Amino acid sequence: MASVSIFVGSMYGNADNLAAEVKNKLISLGHEATVFEDGTIEQLVAADNLLFITSTTGAGDLPDNIQPLFSQMQSQFPMLTNKKVGVIALGDSSYGDTFCGGGRQIDALVQELNATLPIERLDIDACEHFEPWEPAAPWLMRWAAIL
Ligand SMILES: Cc1cc2nc3c(=O)[nH]c(=O)nc-3n(C[C@H](O)[C@H](O)[C@H](O)COP(=O)(O)O)c2cc1C
Repeated sequence: MASVSIFVGSMYGNADNLAAEVKNKLISLGHEATVFEDGTIEQLVAADNLLFITSTTGAGDLPDNIQPLFSQMQSQFPMLTNKKVGVIALGDSSYGDTFCGGGRQIDALVQELNATLPIERLDIDACEHFEPWEPAAPWLMRWAAIL
């Protein structure tokens, strides 16, 4: 059994809803899971395994609720060595070059912080998937299998 801290960035609730579904699935698989909607650097450092689930707003920007954590990660640079990290990005390909920009920013930063990403970031396109859980479920099963 593993413990997973899920950090969410959401403007209108899509990523929040997905995080709740991911949490329930992880618990049904026998893991511990906690969702942080206004995560702090202390919670990040204390986590064994980290899952970021974030949408994109503006033009490739992170949602307001996860921006403070992201800024702290940039300024304090907490090394994530030996932590398993996953990133699920929600976006909309009709935004072109900024598609899933928020999730891409997190992905790049956690790699700079030396995190282990056993499975590459999942980008979920709202144009293709009305229900984000559909593509997230098989990705999560693969990610959970390496915990
Ligand atoms: C004002 C606004 C700006 C957006 N900008 C982008 C963007 O730059 N890139 C992208 O991939 N998606 C963009 N999106 C799409 C959202 O990321 C997508 O609808 C997502 O599912 C919203 O999830 P949330 O409710 O958790 O915030 C934008 C949506 C809105 C409403």
